[in-house]
Amino acid sequence: MSKRRLFVTTALPYANGNFHIGHIMEYIQADIWVRFQRMQGNQVHFVCADDAHGAPIMIAAEKAGITPQQFVANISSGRKPYLDGFHIGFDNWHSTDGQENHALAKEIYLQLREAGLIEVREIEQFYDPEKGMFLPDRFIKGECPACGAKDQYGDSCESCGAVYSPTEVKNPYSALSGSTPVLKKSDHYFFKLSDPRCISFLKDWTQGLNAEGRHRLQPEVLNKIKEWFVTDESGKSGLGDWDISRDAPYFGIEIPDAPGKYFYVWLDAPIGYLAALKNYLDQKPNQKNVADEVGFEAFLSDPSVEQYHFIGKDITYFHTLFWPAMLHFSGRKTPSSIFVHGFITVSGEKMSKSRGTGIDPLKYLSLGMNPEWLRYYLAAKLSARVEDVDFNPQDFMLRVNSDLVGKYINIASRASNFIHKQFDAQLGSVQPRGEQLLGQLQAAAPTIAKLYEDREFAKALRDIMSLADHVNEFVDQNKPWELAKKEGAIDELHAVCTTCLEAFRYLSIYLKPVLPSLCAQVEVFLKCSPLVFADANTRLGPGHVINDYKHLIQRVDEKVLDKLFELPVETDSKPKPSGAITSAKADSNADVSSGSSDQQNSEAPGGELIAPTIGIEEFAKVDLRIAQIVSCENVEGSTKLLRLMLDIGEGRTRQVFSGIASVYKPEDLVGKLTVMVANLAPRKMKFGVSEGMVLAASHADEKATPGIYILHPWIGAKPGMRIH
Ligand code: 2FM
Ligand code: ZN
Repeated sequence: MSKRRLFVTTALPYANGNFHIGHIMEYIQADIWVRFQRMQGNQVHFVCADDAHGAPIMIAAEKAGITPQQFVANISSGRKPYLDGFHIGFDNWHSTDGQENHALAKEIYLQLREAGLIEVREIEQFYDPEKGMFLPDRFIKGECPACGAKDQYGDSCESCGAVYSPTEVKNPYSALSGSTPVLKKSDHYFFKLSDPRCISFLKDWTQGLNAEGRHRLQPEVLNKIKEWFVTDESGKSGLGDWDISRDAPYFGIEIPDAPGKYFYVWLDAPIGYLAALKNYLDQKPNQKNVADEVGFEAFLSDPSVEQYHFIGKDITYFHTLFWPAMLHFSGRKTPSSIFVHGFITVSGEKMSKSRGTGIDPLKYLSLGMNPEWLRYYLAAKLSARVEDVDFNPQDFMLRVNSDLVGKYINIASRASNFIHKQFDAQLGSVQPRGEQLLGQLQAAAPTIAKLYEDREFAKALRDIMSLADHVNEFVDQNKPWELAKKEGAIDELHAVCTTCLEAFRYLSIYLKPVLPSLCAQVEVFLKCSPLVFADANTRLGPGHVINDYKHLIQRVDEKVLDKLFELPVETDSKPKPSGAITSAKADSNADVSSGSSDQQNSEAPGGELIAPTIGIEEFAKVDLRIAQIVSCENVEGSTKLLRLMLDIGEGRTRQVFSGIASVYKPEDLVGKLTVMVANLAPRKMKFGVSEGMVLAASHADEKATPGIYILHPWIGAKPGMRIH
């Protein structure tokens, strides 16, 4: 069969945080598949990129005081230790903010417009008057219209599961500024997915077969998609038009002929797959290590090139509807298949997209844990179905120690000693019983290859480990340690140990997609060229000399494994800034903490000793309330004071003077929430009566460590709430 040419990607991660274990699982799944394809002699271009655009990244960059480009570059520069660490071999890592993506996104959009599939419509959306921007759904919060739960996102309720539009939310507020959003009209650009041409194309595409005669989608994905196509009583398809534009300010790609409008991040993100490939293929052949002179356009449009995207189940809609429609109606080839996987849970616990799970991939590596343990364990659980994979620490240790080390590695360590000591490191010939065993191992190659091809890694590993069981039974039956002592059994010993090492080589061929680094060591040990699947038809053969056996892999140490799950010791006692960005859905973004940690004297933190202990009753005498700063102004005749008018839900406002004029501009404070002492006796001051006190933090030595900081409650706190 002639060699296949494949273009493979994983989903492009948002450039707003480091990788979590969910990313690593997807990359490992795709990497195993790619390595398998290469071991079959197929050519693969395997690329990925940072998904750079969108409001959350723009806002996170603003918070960090840097440009979005710099923010994305910082995140991107942290990718390598993860990818190298877990032996994930992308050919190229690019960014959706690269020039290729800007050009391709514009080109595709213009082709869709040419095809009559773009429409401009005026829509009304929530706008944050304080920030001067339209609010993405996830940045609108309020009470759920269905169950009344407070502080729910603008698109769905985490309490009752209701899904709604932001305009239905009761008492909405902006998660960015806390202000009440107003409805504002604006022109938006839509991709007409409800166009009969799109519906008919997508019905055929999702249900039909690809050029290789295979289903493009997994059966459970197809079932889900059928729900999306359901038509209502009036015959209207469930596929709505897709809003692909966002108004400035936005970090994204400008829409041609539409000043101030940008592509919604999900429009240009999948185009980033093509941009990453183009960026790769445009490099000089010697930079790519492949003698492939075919240019990007020719490669991508070649009907014989297969295109596969590995993705998580949460982004199925984008990849099985929007993406193929975008490609098809812009005159391009569509993906051969979309490979959807489930989520990873840790000891049954679901992962948050922004916080990850209990396993921090870098901590795993820094503890010296072998990345191939994780690759092996995940492979042993992955299938072609869209099902969640659970990482269970005990199960992890058991599988690695008893299967990988106990069954597979043991074969080499048991046999190589004799070959070295008694036979000058040379292999001999194999006797009939050994031939039978090796025949069985060789014969398994097509089945194992098919399982890899179908992404049935768990089944492949089960088959491989069952072969390893046969080899170990062979060792137990032939007892080389007894043969070594038995007179006249030297040839038999040679044959048994040779059989073991030939068998070990077959097992290594089959395990290599999962354990690339371990198998590279095996190749050195066996003195053989890089193993490929076709090597299952050959033998090392009599007279072949091997290298010294060096221990190939350690067992998992339970103590180290425990450390992986130990909670980090909190060293920074200061509260983290109240990041407004904590969404967990498609537009997700992690909190961006300032990371500042000034050195403090442990006896006198902040420059003063901790005050004498008080009882809770004494603390309870202080009535602290959330207050909204209704207005704020400078005080004539004072350089230190600001006059604040505070609302704590009493139906009136209170006047409070605060010595914060050196740090805050009055206009920056208006509308913000803060904390005040509500039952402090009113004090007559030079400029008027102060009816309370605003809480603020400062160092005791204000000269040496200047600055005074008022408190700002977490999102969700409301004026008048008492602080307990
Ligand atoms: O869900 C996510 O993390 C997205 N950044 C995935 C984008 S995949 C592709 F379309 F770029
Ligand atoms: Zn609800």
